Amino acid sequence: MARTHTVFGKVLHWGFVILYLYGIFKQVEDLSQLENSGLLWFEVAFALVFLAIVLMRYFYMRQFDTFMGAWEPVPLAHTYLAKGIHLAMYACFILLPLTGLMIAGLYNQGYTVNATPDEQQTVMDVVLGLHGLVADISYVLIVVHIAAALYSRLKGEGVWTSMVPVLKEKGPTSSPLIKRITAVENSAYARFERFFSSKSK
Ligand code: HEM
Ligand code: HEM
Repeated sequence: MARTHTVFGKVLHWGFVILYLYGIFKQVEDLSQLENSGLLWFEVAFALVFLAIVLMRYFYMRQFDTFMGAWEPVPLAHTYLAKGIHLAMYACFILLPLTGLMIAGLYNQGYTVNATPDEQQTVMDVVLGLHGLVADISYVLIVVHIAAALYSRLKGEGVWTSMVPVLKEKGPTSSPLIKRITAVENSAYARFERFFSSKSK
């Protein structure tokens, strides 16, 4: 049965989007800024709050099925794909503040230089590299997530309406083109599922 996300689930989703955007846009530009101990402690506090909210959200949302707003059953392979992307997003949202906290800890231990690629690398350079990589991966995953949400809205599956307060769906699309694309997509999922079920026999 089609359901919609709870008000708390929606507040967590959209509130977290604001927190994430704030984290990305107010980012520390380079290591030397951490000389300002006020900024260093603010960053540490922000990272701890961010981490606490991500963990609370993850455990709260676990009780709800992926695509719980869908009016029709969603292919299993599609559900696993979405679950995988959601999990990868959560992994990034945990690793971002964790590597940030490691940067703060290392800075306090005297690792105050970010070496250029031809200088000798320290543990600080490795953690800074990881911090930047995780941020870049999170951008890619979010672009995929938003594209998938828009595509689902075009199909009119009900998933959009379960989380997004605007442009609510009235029913499945009547567009022959979208219907044809969905049929191709569903047959790819079915082939994928058959492949794995024959392998597991
Ligand atoms: C236009 C922007 C966005 C739209 C339309 C959108 C839409 C949605 C929808 C419809 C769901 C529910 C999926 C389901 O029921 O299975 C969802 C879940 C989710 N969204 Fe978004 N989203 C947007 C932006 C973002 C951004 C920017 C982030 C990360 C900062 C994000 C992170 C997540 C996560 C992690 C989930 C998984 C649900 C959970 O278990 O917490 N979304 N989103
Ligand atoms: C949730 C918390 C955090 C978020 C979302 C975040 C996000 C980011 C992003 C997006 C970048 C740019 C990466 C790139 O250039 O590819 C960055 C860089 C940086 N962050 Fe964070 N960060 C967080 C926590 C922290 C903390 C706690 C510290 C240390 C106190 C920190 C220190 C730095 C530094 C020093 C850089 C610059 C790296 C460089 O020199 O290239 N971050 N952060």
